[in-house]
Amino acid sequence: MKKRQFETEAIRTQMERSQYLEHSTPMYLTSSFVFEDAEDMRASFAEEKERNIYSRYSNPNSSEFIEKVCKMEGAEDGFAFASGMAAVFSTFAALLESGDHIISSRSIFGSTHSLFTQFFPKWNINTSYFNINEVDTIESLITPRTKIIYAESPTNPGVDILDLEVLGKIAKKHNLIFIVDNCFASPYLQQPIKFGAHLVIHSGTKLMDGQGRVLAGITVGGRELMDKVYRFSRITGPALSPFNAWVLSKSLETLSVRVDRHCENALKLAQFLEEHPKVNWVKYPFLKSHPQYEIAKKQMKAGGCVVAFDVKGGVEAGKKFFDAIKLLSLSANLGDARSIVTHPASTTHSKLTSEERLGAGITDGMVRVSVGLEHIDDIIADIDQALG
Ligand SMILES: Cc1ncc(COP(=O)(O)O)c(C=O)c1O
Repeated sequence: MKKRQFETEAIRTQMERSQYLEHSTPMYLTSSFVFEDAEDMRASFAEEKERNIYSRYSNPNSSEFIEKVCKMEGAEDGFAFASGMAAVFSTFAALLESGDHIISSRSIFGSTHSLFTQFFPKWNINTSYFNINEVDTIESLITPRTKIIYAESPTNPGVDILDLEVLGKIAKKHNLIFIVDNCFASPYLQQPIKFGAHLVIHSGTKLMDGQGRVLAGITVGGRELMDKVYRFSRITGPALSPFNAWVLSKSLETLSVRVDRHCENALKLAQFLEEHPKVNWVKYPFLKSHPQYEIAKKQMKAGGCVVAFDVKGGVEAGKKFFDAIKLLSLSANLGDARSIVTHPASTTHSKLTSEERLGAGITDGMVRVSVGLEHIDDIIADIDQALG
């Protein structure tokens, strides 16, 4: 049969029906599963059978969510986590030994940056950073203990774009594991495995849920690496709850239509801000003025839901802008149906030094807008009056 399209898999990937022949997958809110007899129990624990034993290891709702994301990303296997950060931490912890080395893009999510700089060194795992526009320096950072190249694209919060194909080639040449945090794009807009990524991580909290309800994370990729992530995670316990997995699997049914509208609204807002006299600069991957516009076009279907811009007048003008916002939410999340404005310098990236922030492209007056699904005229009107 012809391979099904993304939208069809998002809706039709479903757990086997129960004896009640339900149309929509029910919730399996159970911590454990029962065995037929002693032999069934022994064989299940010996992994001679593929079946659910305990929801810290697997659960039908998590399995459905994982299977969908694997199909969307073109991955063989995956594991679902209680949050995006649980996915990031567990994936690295499962794959690295004391003494190993990571090479990461400097522009990464604040908590991931803190994990690399404040916690991993405790276990003698160190990280070297490369600037977004200096991928040619990556090879000079490689040591005999380098194991992983890590990147986000688009980056949080600067919406810079990294050429995933170039990174994939470097990883292949040096036999390194290439891991991409793909949550700003979602699997609908970009599939990093096509460009050489071995593992793809998502904060499911963002576009996957899309309505700001649940925390979730997922890692997908090749079977061998995922087996290591699975073995570490089934012991350490960061598993996603079946309830949240159920919510997410339903949300993915509408991912494509939601993300299409997010992108349409975000592009219109970015074009409006480009002409605004109170704005220093605007960044959006599908604006022609974006420094990596050509790369974005090559690897993404559309520009995503996040627009970054800098308010003229620095910190003071920025404060006035946030205080004047009426419709949009002042919140730290993104990828929600509700549009959200954030000030990265004082919130998500406040734990970084000002030097580290500038290195990640975060200026004091920078505003990050997660453009939602309200009517674009209302989104623009609120931002326009707040700038005025
Ligand atoms: C790029 C990126 N990765 C990871 C995370 C962490 O996800 P979570 O908040 O679900 O732990 C976030 C959250 O904002 C993020 O923006």
